[in-house]
Amino acid sequence: MVFGCHPQQRRSAFARFAAASPLLCCGCAGRQSALDTAGSEADATSLLFWVLVGTGALIWLAVVGLLVYAIRDRRPRWSEDAAGKLILWAGPVFSSTVLFGLLTYTLWLMPGLRPSTDRALRIEITGTQFWWRVVYHGPAGPPAISANEVRLPVGEPVEFVLRSDDVIHSFWIPSLGGKMDMIPGRTNTLSLLANRAGAYRGACTEFCGTSHALMAFSAVAMMPDDFDRWLAIQSSPAANAGGPGQDLFLRHGCGSCHRIDGTEARGSVGPDLSHLGARETVGAGLLPNTEEAVARFIAEPDVLKPGTRMPSFRMLPPEEIRAIAIYLKGLK
Ligand code: CUA
Repeated sequence: MVFGCHPQQRRSAFARFAAASPLLCCGCAGRQSALDTAGSEADATSLLFWVLVGTGALIWLAVVGLLVYAIRDRRPRWSEDAAGKLILWAGPVFSSTVLFGLLTYTLWLMPGLRPSTDRALRIEITGTQFWWRVVYHGPAGPPAISANEVRLPVGEPVEFVLRSDDVIHSFWIPSLGGKMDMIPGRTNTLSLLANRAGAYRGACTEFCGTSHALMAFSAVAMMPDDFDRWLAIQSSPAANAGGPGQDLFLRHGCGSCHRIDGTEARGSVGPDLSHLGARETVGAGLLPNTEEAVARFIAEPDVLKPGTRMPSFRMLPPEEIRAIAIYLKGLK
């Protein structure tokens, strides 16, 4: 198409492609990109990706170059014998050598992908429609329970113990490494090592029902000292609890589904809310964590997250919903 058109059109087609190419590269960056890496496994797999893309691109350029040469220069210069040899060497021999080289490189890379878990921090994650239960088993103290956010120390291996309560989900933090399915009745493990502090985004990557696409989480890699301090806070009740919002929360029965450390709320059907105020998002990666978002989620979870098991509370007076939201947002 490009070869057959007027030189002016050809130039403008090239200009359009050149203008669009930075847009193509924009897709490689961001909080949820396997090519914008912050973990040892993601580093290795993205390098492998670029090696495969680079090799493929070079071969494509060589083949297209030869094709253009053959189209333009029709005089027969090659004897039958020489052409046969070229086809043999540039065909089966070259292809098998390149594929064998890439396969060897990939197999050599694989054993080193996952860090050793001998002294790893263990984080249990259970997938459930449509959120994540998170339990930290640190070296000291009782386990810390959280939800919809995963924090991990930079430079230290972490072993994720993955389960499911209902259907198959899949756990993936693209910036840190590969994914792993969460299968009912089975325990899978995945070890990851973050090597750059920052906030990333993880997602469920197995269709698990109506709100599968709304089942995400934040993954925050912190410097080890910050992480230890944060984990100590998570293991005890929030300091700034109490007030009218707490009374309303308990009176309306929210505590039969949600747990808030240090109160009578002991439910485990829904996410633990002990330190909800300190999380990045509300509703498993759905909305930025603001008072308005918490209030909106209480009033209409069925609209925000179709298929959720949480009933809507739109029958409550708006000032009561607001008071509960202020209380929950204050749990840090
Ligand atoms: Cu859980 Cu898709």
